[in-house]
Formats: sequence, structure tokens, C-alpha cells
Amino acid sequence: MSAVVGVGLLGLGTVGSAVARILGERAKLIEAAAGRPVRLVGACVRDPAKARSVDVPTTADPFEILDDPEVALVVEVIGGVDPALDLHLAAFERGKHVVTANKELVAREWRTLHDAARSARRQLRYEAAVAAAIPIVAAARALGAVRPRVLRGLLNGTTTYICSRMETGASFAAALAEAQAAGYAEADPSADVDGWDPAYKLSILASILEGRWFPPDNVRRTSLRSVTPQDVAAAAERGKRLRYLAVADFGERATKARVGVEEVDAGSLEGRATGPQNVVTIETDLAGTLTFAGPGAGGDATASAILGDVIAIARAER
Ligand code: NAP
Ligand code: HSE
Repeated sequence: MSAVVGVGLLGLGTVGSAVARILGERAKLIEAAAGRPVRLVGACVRDPAKARSVDVPTTADPFEILDDPEVALVVEVIGGVDPALDLHLAAFERGKHVVTANKELVAREWRTLHDAARSARRQLRYEAAVAAAIPIVAAARALGAVRPRVLRGLLNGTTTYICSRMETGASFAAALAEAQAAGYAEADPSADVDGWDPAYKLSILASILEGRWFPPDNVRRTSLRSVTPQDVAAAAERGKRLRYLAVADFGERATKARVGVEEVDAGSLEGRATGPQNVVTIETDLAGTLTFAGPGAGGDATASAILGDVIAIARAER
């Protein structure tokens, strides 16, 4: 058996804690998939005094993780650009691979991160950044020979959760509070309800499908905040449901992308989606129409994608 792969976590919140717990609980399964043992070395957090659900050595100094020779692979689940960007670059400079769920960073710093990984000859993987458990980043990469026509779907679990709970009588505020309590929302939930989070995810998918960076600022956004219980009821009377859709239309000349509230048929996949369910449909020329659905938020669903990336790196490095 080849050498142990040491993993360093940057962030030990909803996602980081799930990664740490599953790495411990499923050590044998992960070792079998990776072809070598994968061991969590430690985690960097903002507040080391905070009570944790997992037993992991913690530090407030990210360089204790980045400079540790036992750490071959860094999992960044802090979120945002600052300090995450500098930590990614520092990891590559030290010869570490990076796995992240941080869609804001990947979408905004697409070129910088990919260039840094290429220069360092290390892997940057971010399956968890889009649609959590659905392997949509891998799927989009597998479509390299096709011309995408339209990508459409639900890329944000929090807004689907809010829309579907408002259908069963919850207020917007109560539904958002439930989504936060379940660990689906971003640290600042305005990223969800004002559309930044699905705009980042749409930017990443469009960038992969088009083979060049599609900046997130090019995604037109309208907020979910203006939706009222009356809007939800009026849609229901027409046999419709309101959902927060992400759409990229890959036209002949330019790609147009938007996120916002739209009406969908109540019986459609999007209309039937509740809670953190994501749905992605990609219309293409060669491959017809492909549809993917599954849990798009939450600790375990996101950890599943992160550990898939960790295992892929560990296998490739044997
Ligand atoms: P979270 O629960 O807020 O956890 C963030 C973690 O980062 C916490 O452990 C926090 O430390 C730590 N942290 C914050 N600032 C730090 C700093 N300056 N230095 C060191 N550590 C710092 O967030 P999350 O929900 O796990 O999300 C993490 C990332 O995954 C985000 O990019 C998010 O978009 C992405 N993501 C989340 C989900 C989901 O369902 N939650 C799904 C897919 C992707 P303390 O614990 O000490 O506060
Ligand atoms: N806040 C995000 C969502 C987490 O609700 O979809 C998953 O990326």
C-alpha cells in the first residue's frame, strides 16, 4: 500500500465538519477507493475555542496547516475571496493540491487559480462548488466536444427551500431561518436570496462548457426578496410554481445568463423540487438533452463531492 495522504482542512463549519466526520467514519471505504489511506491532519478555524462536533486538532493560523509537511492536500471550506484566495495560492506555492467548495472564489478568480495550479503542477478540484452531491462539474467536462444550447435549472438549495416552504404556508423569513438552521444557506444569506450564489455556479458551468472564463458579473440577477405569499398562491391557481431559476442561453454570438424567480409547471422536475434539491438540464447539439437532479446543499451532500475529489487526487498520485 502506498503512503498515507495527509489532508489539511481550512474551515470546520457545516461542510468542514461533515468532511472531518466522514473521513473518520469511512476511513476503510475511502482507503479502498483511493488505493491508499487518507488521514485528516488538522483544521484551521476562526475561533479555536468554539465547541466542535468533531475531534480534530484546530489552529487559528492557516500556515500551521499549509507548512505542515504531512499535508499533501488542502481542503478549503472557509468561503469568500479574502483570505481564501491567498491561502489557495500559498498552498500551490508549497506544492499542495487544493479541493474546494468555494464557488465565489472559483468563479471570481477563475484565471488566477487555474494558472496557479498549472504553474505548480498541482490539482485544483471544485466538484462541490456547484450543486453539491450532483457530479455536474465532471459532467460538464465530459461534454467538451458538444455545443451547449441552453443550461437551465435550480442551482441554489436555499431559494428552492424558501419557495417550496412558502407553498406550505411558511413566511419568507421563517423559511430562510429554517434553511439557515439546516446548514443550506451561505454565511451571509443575501448571497442566496439576492442570487450571487447561483450566479457563481452558473459562471463556473458556463466557463467549463465554453472553454473560457464566463465572469459572474455577466450573470443578470434579480432578488427573491420581492416574492410574496400572494404571488405563490396566484401561481398555484394557474397550476404553476415559483422557482429561483438559473438560465444560460449559449447563443450564436454571445451567451446570456440570468438568475431570478420564474414560473414553472407544478408537475415539472423544477416544480416538484423541494428543500435543497437542485436540478440541471443541459440542451446540446450532439448529446441531446441531459438532466441531473439531487441534493445541492448541506454538509453530507457537499462532503460527498469533496471526498470524491480527494479520492481522485489520491488515486492519481499513487
Ligand atoms: P460555515 O459553516 O460558515 O463554515 C466556515 C468555516 O470557516 C468555519 O469553521 C469558520 O471558523 C471558518 N473561517 C471563517 N473565516 C475564517 C478565517 N478567516 N480563517 C480561518 N477560518 C475561517 O460555512 P459552510 O456552510 O461550511 O461553507 C463553506 C464553503 O462551502 C463556502 O464556500 C460555501 O459556499 C461552500 N458550500 C457550502 C454548502 C452548504 O450546504 N453549506 C454547500 C456547497 C458549498 P469558525 O468555525 O471558528 O467560525
Ligand atoms: N447556499 C448554497 C445553497 C449552498 O443554498 O445552494 C450550496 O452551494
